[in-house]
Amino acid sequence: MTMQTLTAQISGVGKALPERRLTNADLEKMVDTSDEWITKRVGIKERRIAAEGEYTSHLGARAAADALAMAGVPASEVDLILVATSTPDTVYPSAACLIQKALGATRAGVLDISAACTGFIYGASLATGMIRSGLMRQVLVVAAEVNTSVVNWKDRDTCILFGDGAGAALFSAHDASDGRGVLALRLGGDGEYAPLLNLPNSGCRPFPDAPGRYIVMQGNEVFKQAVRNMAECGADVLAQAGLTAADVSLLIPHQANIRIIDAVATRLGVPPERVFVNIEKYGNTSAATIPIALCEAVEQGRLKPGDVLVIDAFGAGLTWGALALRWG
Ligand code: UT7
Repeated sequence: MTMQTLTAQISGVGKALPERRLTNADLEKMVDTSDEWITKRVGIKERRIAAEGEYTSHLGARAAADALAMAGVPASEVDLILVATSTPDTVYPSAACLIQKALGATRAGVLDISAACTGFIYGASLATGMIRSGLMRQVLVVAAEVNTSVVNWKDRDTCILFGDGAGAALFSAHDASDGRGVLALRLGGDGEYAPLLNLPNSGCRPFPDAPGRYIVMQGNEVFKQAVRNMAECGADVLAQAGLTAADVSLLIPHQANIRIIDAVATRLGVPPERVFVNIEKYGNTSAATIPIALCEAVEQGRLKPGDVLVIDAFGAGLTWGALALRWG
């Protein structure tokens, strides 16, 4: 295997969801909303809520352990653990450090990634770069969130949207000569739009006017940017890989709103039967939506060797990114 022919391939996936469900009917008792509005405008029926004492690192470690088990790779062989999260247990130690300890991945470097809902694609991209350069062979990318720790339960604009959960994928060195593995990626961001989606009081800057450390969002504007940028970067990775929408076996978009998913799929020209949707069960788990969906797609047998998978996300920052991969 020469350096030029190396790429990254996903060799294992895992997920972890808290037991407790919060349904739209439950939310009807908490804020002025309705099951009908949430179902129609967003597509969510229920979301999961972490138990007391169940933190991001716990969910992430469970998902990561499953990904390693599926790949048949011992934790001691992992070179790097990247954890995409906006809700780490603590800023330091990083969630990656805590997950390393839980797994016993004693040889691994550890790093958290702050790219909001796009975090898994940033992690997958960094994993690909480390593997293609020949510097590393096994990179574990985890996305884990306890979003409900930063939800304002009095704000109906945001509290209906988010849920907790984790997903993970092991990226392993793969000989690219069979045309499989990561084919193309694209990352983007624009700090000009920072005010659209914020977590005030989460860093050194005080926000005296904010009610606490709660997600604040201008949903309408975020919606428009999400559709535009996800469609654009999804199309870009297909073009880079010399593929068209007709070649896409499965599109896994970030699960933030069913109307965003539909609009992006329409713009890309991918028909609904080739778009993975599970937003109704988990809501928006931020960075974790894509690896959770990927794990379920694998469990449901929706990815066969040779299939083209496109993952496509968008989040606070603003950030966005997409990655195309041939499964197998
Ligand atoms: O993870 C990445 C970042 N997040 C996103 O991608 C989220 C992107 N944005 C969205 O998904 C949507 O903008 C929302 C779901 C947040 C909101 O949907 P919308 O269709 O953009 O609604 P809107 O904000 O334009 O509000 C429409 C109406 C308003 O009432 P009026 O002014 O028309 O009387 C809102 O007050 O819906 C009302 N509304 C609600 N009604 C019932 C807003 N939230 C709710 C609610 N229940 N929870």
